[in-house]
Amino acid sequence: MNKTYHIITFGCQMNERDSETLAGFLEEMGYTYTEDPKTADAVIINTCSVRENADKKFFGVLGQLKNPHEQRPGMMVCVCGCMMQQQRIIDTLKAKYSWVDLVFGTHNMSEFPRLFQNASEQKAHLVDVWQDGKALAEGLPARRAYSYKAFVNIMQGCNNFCSYCIVPYTRGRERSRHPEAILNEIRRLAAEGCKEIMLLGQNVNSYGRAGQIEGGYCFEKDEPHWDFAGLLRAIDQIEGIERVRFMTSHPKDLSDDLIACFGDLKHLCRQIHLPVQAGSSKVLKEMNRVYDRQQYLERVRALRAACPSIAISTDIIVGFPGETEEDFEETLSLVEEVRYDSAFTFIYSVREGTPAAAREDQVPEEVKHRRFNRLLETMHRIQEEKSLQYQDTVQRILIEGFSKTDDTMLTGHTESGRVVDLPGDPSLIGQMVDVKIVKAQTFSLYGKLLG
Ligand code: 5AD
Ligand code: SF4
Repeated sequence: MNKTYHIITFGCQMNERDSETLAGFLEEMGYTYTEDPKTADAVIINTCSVRENADKKFFGVLGQLKNPHEQRPGMMVCVCGCMMQQQRIIDTLKAKYSWVDLVFGTHNMSEFPRLFQNASEQKAHLVDVWQDGKALAEGLPARRAYSYKAFVNIMQGCNNFCSYCIVPYTRGRERSRHPEAILNEIRRLAAEGCKEIMLLGQNVNSYGRAGQIEGGYCFEKDEPHWDFAGLLRAIDQIEGIERVRFMTSHPKDLSDDLIACFGDLKHLCRQIHLPVQAGSSKVLKEMNRVYDRQQYLERVRALRAACPSIAISTDIIVGFPGETEEDFEETLSLVEEVRYDSAFTFIYSVREGTPAAAREDQVPEEVKHRRFNRLLETMHRIQEEKSLQYQDTVQRILIEGFSKTDDTMLTGHTESGRVVDLPGDPSLIGQMVDVKIVKAQTFSLYGKLLG
């Protein structure tokens, strides 16, 4: 009988993309996807460690697999991803979850078939985690989550060391894929009918800059001499790709040349995710973000000058150590000034091993929560105002599938990244259509097909 697999993914799009590769490997080994992890022959949990919540959720989900694993000899439970790059997690797994079959990290994912094979033959707890990565592996399989839009990894790792963030420790140093490998992947996707590409990296706009990783692309020494803007211009020429997006960008690396792309390129969506993290220059300095409030606002002005309709979203952390009421007010006033289209808002979470975790001036939990709620109120008000502006407008949408909340409706995104649900024939899935927005609510838009 066919063997089945299930993958549980926590965290960001990078993890989602990695899980597509793991699924590709398992399918090459003859496994087929199943909805239910408890009855699967192989389960992989791909973890995230950016905030403490994700840690807790992981152990909860893992614990639920213990019984099925005991009852079904031969079931393989594997864990991987960012959490595995931390020694204290490995120690906990060894001490309390020794029944787990395979533990691997973010740097040796391309070794998965061999590791999986070894673990299933030995029937012993196999832990293989590397401290840092090499050049990114090419030619790996993938089972893509969607057929009309695709994640394409262009670089990995982060050299920024923001003082609150664990990612540089779990994903290692920045390394970029060669432009030809990226373009070939996108050409292949276009030939298969893919219309929208999301370029992924922890810091896409420093693409090609860090040449110190052997085998990684560096635009100063390798041909062609393309930085991120150059790469975008080349992608824009690929026949069949109608939309290009990217995330995440660091404001300090948002060059004028890249900003000009939003005015010039035909297929680049007029939308950018530009994490600010805080509105106070003092907090930004302590976060090691390398820009201050004024410099960030200047980049926003430059973006809007090049492309007045651009939608801007952001990430904000409240309750960073030492954040005063005045600092927090500055975050609120920055939000009012920029008027973001959307924002991911986070309560600061202590990440062991980062400089901010060692600070003694941590903000009390109730203060963090109070500030968080105030920020949400402000964000929701702005979002509602922005949302209402869509009423009766015509939006171009890529129909991606069925609505998450009502499977009799179709769904897609506007160029600005807003979800629109609409009635329509399933044969439209995969097509770009014009839609009139007939109902605009704070978090959802409803449309009607035109023509
Ligand atoms: N606490 C809270 N939020 C964090 N982020 C990263 N590290 C932390 C942390 N320790 C947020 C940042 C980042 C997003 C992916 O997660 O806003 O941009
Ligand atoms: Fe973390 Fe900062 Fe790197 Fe983003 S840029 S991954 S927040 S260290």
